[in-house]
Amino acid sequence: MKWPDKISKTLKIEYPIIQAPMLGICTPEMVAAVANGGGLGSLPVGVLPPERVLELIRKTKSLTSKPFAVNLFVHDIPDSVDEIEFDTMQAFFRRICAEDGMIIDEQNAASLKFNTYKSLIDVLIAENIPIVSFTFGVLDDESIRKLKANNTILIGTATCVAEAKILDEKGIDMIVAQGSEAGGHRGSFLNVNDPPLIGSMTLIPSIAAITDKPVIASGGICDGKSISAAFTLGASAVQMGTAFVASHESLATSVWKKRLIGAGEEDIILTNSFSGRFARGIRNKLSEQVTTSGLAVPGYPIQNSLTTPIRAQAQKTGNTDYIVMLRGQSQAKIEEKGSAEIFLELVRQTEAQNLS
Ligand SMILES: Cc1cc2nc3c(=O)[nH]c(=O)nc-3n(C[C@H](O)[C@H](O)[C@H](O)COP(=O)(O)O)c2cc1C
Repeated sequence: MKWPDKISKTLKIEYPIIQAPMLGICTPEMVAAVANGGGLGSLPVGVLPPERVLELIRKTKSLTSKPFAVNLFVHDIPDSVDEIEFDTMQAFFRRICAEDGMIIDEQNAASLKFNTYKSLIDVLIAENIPIVSFTFGVLDDESIRKLKANNTILIGTATCVAEAKILDEKGIDMIVAQGSEAGGHRGSFLNVNDPPLIGSMTLIPSIAAITDKPVIASGGICDGKSISAAFTLGASAVQMGTAFVASHESLATSVWKKRLIGAGEEDIILTNSFSGRFARGIRNKLSEQVTTSGLAVPGYPIQNSLTTPIRAQAQKTGNTDYIVMLRGQSQAKIEEKGSAEIFLELVRQTEAQNLS
């Protein structure tokens, strides 16, 4: 069995398997477990404040001396908020939550504050992070220039060939081909309100055909068979999220893990109701109520701000009607096991596929 080594050599890892960044799920412990096992762990920081990002990076470094990636959300910050749309959705949430005994603090559209990844670039450089991956867009030219001057390897996310071409032209080093099976938000940036939904089987070879950059397959990959299939289709590495969502190191609570594990194929939907950006996860009362309300859903990250206090309260009380439980379509053996064990099992299964 021969592993593709195009990416492993550059990233200084043993196996071309990447634990996907999953904000709200991944911990430094998960990242370190995969890094120490010879894969690439990804630490998601989205647009968290710089002090928190520094803390997470330092914690991860204390658990592994191996390289790991830090993952950013590179979406635009909205210029303005439609107050009527915001207030209508907020009133709707207050009503349905009150019916279920949840009291949600009022937010004011005019005082919403959004962080930007741009405030994190200097932290990543100061901490000498070797690999930076990103989703929801393309890093701005100044950030690309600064990171490249520090020899950072850049990994962007594409959900269609047109997005991959843009990443390629911007000099991004590696491209994640995120198929529609993927759990979590679509990384799309050309048409966020009607995102491309191309399955991995088509997307991986289509992107591999238009670029010399290594392609990282992501979406629907869950075991040795699908990992070797991704390599056959032209991927140089795989990035897997759903397989790790219920691991011991995941931030998901136990009721949440049970729902992730027990979800059937009809429970897994694509919806913009949780955050304003389309994401794949488990249908629940929150998603259903927003969908059937027929209300206009404010865009990301405005809707995300509206659901933040609801999700926080639901997580505290273990109310899965209102927890956002993202996962992909794959019927991965999602198990409550250690991330190191999950990772090693994936390596073993892939080697058993006898790739040549
Ligand atoms: C719970 C969850 C959270 C996610 N959060 C992020 C994130 O913070 N950044 C990112 O680039 N991708 C994120 N993703 C998408 C993953 O990077 C990846 O594309 C996806 O998990 C691959 O599909 P799979 O779930 O079938 O393995 C998330 C996925 C899940 C399931």
